[in-house]
Amino acid sequence: MNIATISDLRAPAKRRLPGFVFDYLEGGAGMETGMRRNVSAFDEIRLLPRMLVNIEKRDLSTTLFGHRWALPFATAPIGFCNLMCPGGEEAIARAAVEAGIPCILSTAGTTALEDYARIAGQNAWFQLYVSRFDEITNDLVERTDRTGYEVLVVTVDIPLAARRPRDIRNNFSVALKISPKLVWELVSHPTWSLATLSAGIPKFENMERYMKATGTKQVAGFVSSQVSGSFDWEALKRIRDRWKRRLVVKGLLAADDAVRARDLGCDGVVISNHGGRQLDSLPAPIEVISEVRAAVGPKFPLILDSGIRSGEHIAKALAAGADFCLIGRAMMYAVSALGPKGAKLALEILGDELSRTLAQIGRTDLANLKAAAPIVSAR
Ligand SMILES: Cc1cc2nc3c(=O)[nH]c(=O)nc-3n(C[C@H](O)[C@H](O)[C@H](O)COP(=O)(O)O)c2cc1C
Repeated sequence: MNIATISDLRAPAKRRLPGFVFDYLEGGAGMETGMRRNVSAFDEIRLLPRMLVNIEKRDLSTTLFGHRWALPFATAPIGFCNLMCPGGEEAIARAAVEAGIPCILSTAGTTALEDYARIAGQNAWFQLYVSRFDEITNDLVERTDRTGYEVLVVTVDIPLAARRPRDIRNNFSVALKISPKLVWELVSHPTWSLATLSAGIPKFENMERYMKATGTKQVAGFVSSQVSGSFDWEALKRIRDRWKRRLVVKGLLAADDAVRARDLGCDGVVISNHGGRQLDSLPAPIEVISEVRAAVGPKFPLILDSGIRSGEHIAKALAAGADFCLIGRAMMYAVSALGPKGAKLALEILGDELSRTLAQIGRTDLANLKAAAPIVSAR
């Protein structure tokens, strides 16, 4: 069967990955209603078309943080990325470079930030999880600076590790414990198992050195045990003072928080609920983006993620007030289903759908998509 949409990639991803890996990729917090709402909230919105517009030439490019990007979205930071697809993180970065968009490496990624910058150059942004050990945070910021990253994305929506029922039920831990169930999972998913065995079990390449320094031997739980519950606005200010280039805060939902981040000197924010992975009852970012836009004013960069599964979703996010989007699970379904070659396909599908959406509603570029406010809410 031909792959026509991102949704077509979910079932093959589920077949190819062992159950506990697919659950790590897809699982949300609580009853997962928030995760589902992130997607369904997009479906509540309609786009009012204008007809008899010459749409033959369409331009999807946009400027953000001093760069002209070919498309208005980036690949989201994904912890433990290569668990879902050996070589996936590098393939995603290469596909992003080829497509002319940014790609964001997670602190909990499986490629060292120095290597990632060699692959993705100026397209690479780094996402920071603030550690409860200041030395680790400071060293990560210094390494990011030394390596020449232009954009540091600080994720702030993990005040503590989430309770994700699927991971609890699966007893998911990054140090795999041999059990009959695990052996069965590996044997019954040979494509994934062989690829993972030949590439080697992925490691937290950015954090390894600190694990030694802090005397931690277990990879399991290391990253979540590092998250600082005391991280607050003061601490963010200290990072702002230390990091001289573009600083983006990821994981805000309240308009007042976005205003505060702007006033503190941040260069942009990601309106996100972490793909519904932290708490069930958070609003979907698409439900709050207009209010945030009204509060921060027309010029302040707003990026939106959580629930984006199509180019039409991206068009709706931009029409509602975002400047840019991040693609999380949409990309991970693709590389999980098809291996590294899925990265390029995911970006092609999203770009083509976005371009066709603009044409169908009589818009030729993103400025004119936003200015004409074509949104009609179904509610
Ligand atoms: C498997 C997985 C791992 C993730 N790891 C991180 C991470 O390390 N850092 C981070 O800031 N966000 C992380 N996120 C959240 C994404 O960056 C993004 O906010 C989210 O996936 C967007 O929602 P969507 O998956 O519905 O598109 C992760 C998401 C998933 C699905």
